[in-house]
Amino acid sequence: MKIAIALGTRPEIIKMAPVIRELERKSADFFILHTGQHYSYNLDKVFFEQLKLPQPKYNLEVGSGSDAEQTGKILIGVERILQQESPDIVLVEGDTNSVLAAALAAAKLHIVVGHVEAGLRSYDRNMPEEINRILTDHCSDYLFAPTEKAKQILLGEGTAKEKIFVTGNTIVDAIYQNLEIARESGDILSSLRLNPGEYFVVTLHRQENVDNRARFASILEGLDRVAAEFEMPVIYPIHPRSRKMMAKFGLQSRHLVLAEPMNFLSFLQLESSARLILTDSGGVQEEACVLSVPCVTLRDNTERPETLEVGANTLAGVSPDRILEYSKAMLSRQNNWQNPFGDGTAGRKIVEIIMGGNDG
Ligand code: UD1
Ligand code: UDP
Repeated sequence: MKIAIALGTRPEIIKMAPVIRELERKSADFFILHTGQHYSYNLDKVFFEQLKLPQPKYNLEVGSGSDAEQTGKILIGVERILQQESPDIVLVEGDTNSVLAAALAAAKLHIVVGHVEAGLRSYDRNMPEEINRILTDHCSDYLFAPTEKAKQILLGEGTAKEKIFVTGNTIVDAIYQNLEIARESGDILSSLRLNPGEYFVVTLHRQENVDNRARFASILEGLDRVAAEFEMPVIYPIHPRSRKMMAKFGLQSRHLVLAEPMNFLSFLQLESSARLILTDSGGVQEEACVLSVPCVTLRDNTERPETLEVGANTLAGVSPDRILEYSKAMLSRQNNWQNPFGDGTAGRKIVEIIMGGNDG
């Protein structure tokens, strides 16, 4: 059985890593097809190096562009490679333009598609990711739902139950596989002069937040108030999209400590010892929950409702008053919730499901 792994951005590389590791362990016949949606060293190659992943066999180098431009270029490029390689299955992970385009190209060629992290819904179609999730799920043959809730969403949309497999989220595998190494080898706390439990971490990059001047300014104001109120360093490893938009809008922050995007081990170490995480990232909401660090989500909705239900997360939106108020509330919570995203064996389960007894 020949397997194609299509990926293109930071979270896809991190969350596909446990699947790739398992394929290697089984000596499976697979190759990586990188779309090139992310291309800066610290959003791309650093993860291949640090997580010791095999090099992509192909890189389409599509780079940045509008949603249609990016999706269109990936669709054309992926089709060409799939026609050449004829894999039996294409695996995609998540909700980016790379995911939708690769899944669509494969489905049109009648190649089996497996969607890792299927069944997530924010019910907010202003997010490009929401459209990507829905369409990818609906052209997939294997839907690897991270939770029972995600499975129920898929069933509710008419997906055949034989196609759905609840596996947990591969982010748990990635955390379990790397946390000890991160804690033992990492020096991010000392290099930023931080004490465990005495700082906050921010990430913020969603298009609907940072491409909108009023929303971005409002969030930065809220974060400044949080930093001032608690007198804690607030570290923001800033995504290039957000850095670009901050400069374009002429926005500044009085209190945030801006840092470059970090490698996974450094960021994991930073998150795991933080007192509070404030974010609009999907993956970071999950990681905070798994690492038992309270989270304030800088959005009006989330496709990760499990984090809210277990008490690990709250939706503050973008109002400065609410960001401060909800931060206070989260800091007073007990961090003793259960991780709802599985036991760290999602990668193994996914590979077993697609390969069955077939080891070659
Ligand atoms: C994309 C995904 C988003 C995901 C995020 C992960 C879509 C619609 N969005 O958003 O779901 O959460 O990746 O981080 O697929 N840039 C660089 N270097 C890079 C890549 C981008 O500098 O390697 C800058 C460029 O200015 C670019 C901007 O970031 O225009 C946005 O990049 P893009 O890939 O379009 O979207 P992301 O915001 O990264
Ligand atoms: N991440 C990282 N370095 C950083 C910020 C985030 O390695 O400086 C990792 C983080 O641990 C998580 C993933 O990137 O696994 C989340 O990606 P992102 O927030 O870009 O995308 P999303 O999850 O929102 O799609």
